Amino acid sequence: MTSYQPDALIRADVAAYLARHEEKSLLRFLTCGSVDDGKSTLIGRLLYDSKHVFEDQLAALEDDSKRVGTQGGNIDFALLVDGLAAEREQGITIDVAYRFFATETRKFIVADTPGHEQYTRNMVTGASTADLAVILVDARKGVLTQTRRHSYLAQLLGIRHVVLAINKMDLVHYDQGAFDRIRLAYRAFASEIGITDFRAIPVSGLGGDNIATRSQYMDWYDGPTLIEHLEQVPVDADRAARAPFRLPVQWVNRPDLDFRGFAGTIAGGAVRPGDPVRIVPSGRTTTVKRIVALGGDRDRAEAGEAVTLTLADEVDCSRGDVIAASDDPPEVADQFEATLVWMAEEAMLPGRSYAFQLATQSASAVLRQPKYQVNVNTLEQTAARTLELNAIGVATLSLDRPIVFQPYEQSRELGGFILIDKATNATVAAGMIRFALRRASNVHRQPTDVSREKRAALKNQRPAVLWFTGLSGAGKSTIANLVEKKLARMNRHTFLLDGDNVRHGLNRDLGFTDADRVENIRRIGEVARLMTDAGLIVLTAFISPFRAERDMVRAMLPEGEFVEVHVDTSLAAAEARDVKGLYAKARAGQLANFTGIDSPYEPPEAPELRVDTAAESADAAAERIVAWLLEREEA
Ligand code: ADX
Repeated sequence: MTSYQPDALIRADVAAYLARHEEKSLLRFLTCGSVDDGKSTLIGRLLYDSKHVFEDQLAALEDDSKRVGTQGGNIDFALLVDGLAAEREQGITIDVAYRFFATETRKFIVADTPGHEQYTRNMVTGASTADLAVILVDARKGVLTQTRRHSYLAQLLGIRHVVLAINKMDLVHYDQGAFDRIRLAYRAFASEIGITDFRAIPVSGLGGDNIATRSQYMDWYDGPTLIEHLEQVPVDADRAARAPFRLPVQWVNRPDLDFRGFAGTIAGGAVRPGDPVRIVPSGRTTTVKRIVALGGDRDRAEAGEAVTLTLADEVDCSRGDVIAASDDPPEVADQFEATLVWMAEEAMLPGRSYAFQLATQSASAVLRQPKYQVNVNTLEQTAARTLELNAIGVATLSLDRPIVFQPYEQSRELGGFILIDKATNATVAAGMIRFALRRASNVHRQPTDVSREKRAALKNQRPAVLWFTGLSGAGKSTIANLVEKKLARMNRHTFLLDGDNVRHGLNRDLGFTDADRVENIRRIGEVARLMTDAGLIVLTAFISPFRAERDMVRAMLPEGEFVEVHVDTSLAAAEARDVKGLYAKARAGQLANFTGIDSPYEPPEAPELRVDTAAESADAAAERIVAWLLEREEA
């Protein structure tokens, strides 16, 4: 898979190119269509007919057309955009490619996104900054599932203008009836999903009809050409500039003691020196002193521009804070309902903690089971336990700290976020905040007068969670039980939470799917934390197969209180013993999702303690663990 950046050739020219067109407004749009709709040919046309194909690209193109072109030696415009070798080999466009071109009145950035369903993530990437979508359909085929899917995504991602380019009109003999039928069918669907500004244009990418020049074969069409329409459509940047001012602080620039600037890209509105501003979430107010930009001080800056602000007062403000219009600041919350587009092969795991990034802020987020999933083809909302690759659904998420936000409808910058798998660093979802849950601000922590330190002191011990992890039958419960007995003899106050026991009570609603195991461990983590708050030494014996959840419990506890004990027994040894006869059942196919057989176990990478049960007896191991604890108490 290639990167989302414009390719090297384009990137090198972009700065110079955009500079030449500085005074023109910029329209960002994306194109989407099914594989054979002729999208690449159409974009090639746009670039070529607007006479801004780069010379060297053009030379290469003519060369390639002779070798691999499908248009018999004529210039194959599809080759203009299918710029990557991998794409050419597969014969389909993958990934997002950004292209730049300009006309007399406007400059354009076009994000070319592929039509295949599995590349939803690319469409999300391309669409999240676009003002307009050109949705292609083949005049012979009309509105397809893909057309609906792309339109729905475009609307969801906040694109307000849609062009339905009905392509290959040459293949339906430029028939007005064919055009009207498709236009009307699409109009009904568009209004159903809330697309209000939509225009249908009959085109032929191959012949260039109604793209830059009016078609001589379609007199019956009196609307604008595609280029004319792109030149006229209102640009959303104007709207963003009218919104209240927001600058998510990316970094604090402090070269010397006299200068302290707050740098970032303006997410909404405009700013002038002297404007009253509020730092969110702290709420402190001050005024803007200077706006420093690349070319020197400015007397105004607006949405989309990267600037550094200095403020009149010394106020606390750091990366992640938002500098906002003081009379209209954004909200702060830590629980949300959001729309999610799932983009990973691995399905969403409710209960797992993912890294969360919104503008310049980061946090940890736990998702609840989706409220529903949207069937993009029928727009039906269906029940879902999880979201799989490319699924779109609505779920609530809770963060480990409050963040500054706006609903996505109001601000893409402060309402759009991504979720990242903490172990692999892969982006697993894109999300759009719908609203904050009221309980985020209504449920407060109630302070208690007897502190956890006081409770621990009364018991004359240092609380801890001894977290035993390992395969089923590894010996976790046996060793934990011995450790507890020894501690009790030494007058330590303990509690042993054991998988098989807890699954009869607190967690009897949970099974052994990945999602249920995640929830199992999350609850045990919370219970163990409450027990350490009570001053206890807690022992837990759960397979707890996933690193992510063990790390989550570690992060929930004060530094040093989580003691991971890996009871390391090989699968062969655990299976040979098979005390409960479960391995035999699993092998016989009578027990699904059995750890080590058809469900994974991720061993700890750096446990505080490790027991090799092949080399050490349970009693010796328990003795060693107790000794380790006593030493820790003394430290
Ligand atoms: S965990 O994966 O969610 O941490 P937990 O420790 O609570 O598992 O429960 C594991 C115990 O449940 C095993 O020791 C075994 O007795 C029983 N069990 C029943 N079905 C399964 C299964 N499919 N996989 C693992 N253990 C199972």
